[in-house]
Amino acid sequence: MIFPIVLYGDPVLKKKAKEVEHGDESVVEFVENMFETMEAAQGVGLASPQVGQSLRIFIVDSTPMEDENEGLRQAFINPVMLEEEGDPWNFEEGCLSIPGIREDVERKSRIRIKYFDENWEEHEREFEGVQARIIQHEYDHIEGVLFTDYISSFKKRLLKGKLAKISKGETDAEYRVKIPK
Ligand code: NI
Repeated sequence: MIFPIVLYGDPVLKKKAKEVEHGDESVVEFVENMFETMEAAQGVGLASPQVGQSLRIFIVDSTPMEDENEGLRQAFINPVMLEEEGDPWNFEEGCLSIPGIREDVERKSRIRIKYFDENWEEHEREFEGVQARIIQHEYDHIEGVLFTDYISSFKKRLLKGKLAKISKGETDAEYRVKIPK
């Protein structure tokens, strides 16, 4: 099932998401639907608040962004960011909830994260490069943070009109969206 993707301006995107009850088996189907939704929108990551559920779940599929590494395709449930380190680097980020806008964001290059997969197996892993980048962006979503929160107030002023349009549903996104009330 493909969910509509919540657009910028919806309060669910600014809320800190809640933990999923440990062992909840409904995550299997939910994660499947999230992957279907992300693929239909040609994204590389999607967080639960973006489909209107304020839960600590996100998915990643870095495959379209990899040059030589095998892609990371993974669901992260109740993740805990343990460490972010390494040289900060800039990368142009976009977001399915903010269609048509891309901006450079500076983040640290390596992370260590603990999470459960959809079968409730626990993992602790390190990531770097684009995989770390996508995870950092998605992790922000479950903390109620958007990449536009990092851009300078000058740039944000320039984008104000565009953002206001998105929040009214004026976008040429080629996937189903949910317009904020
Ligand atoms: Ni996003």
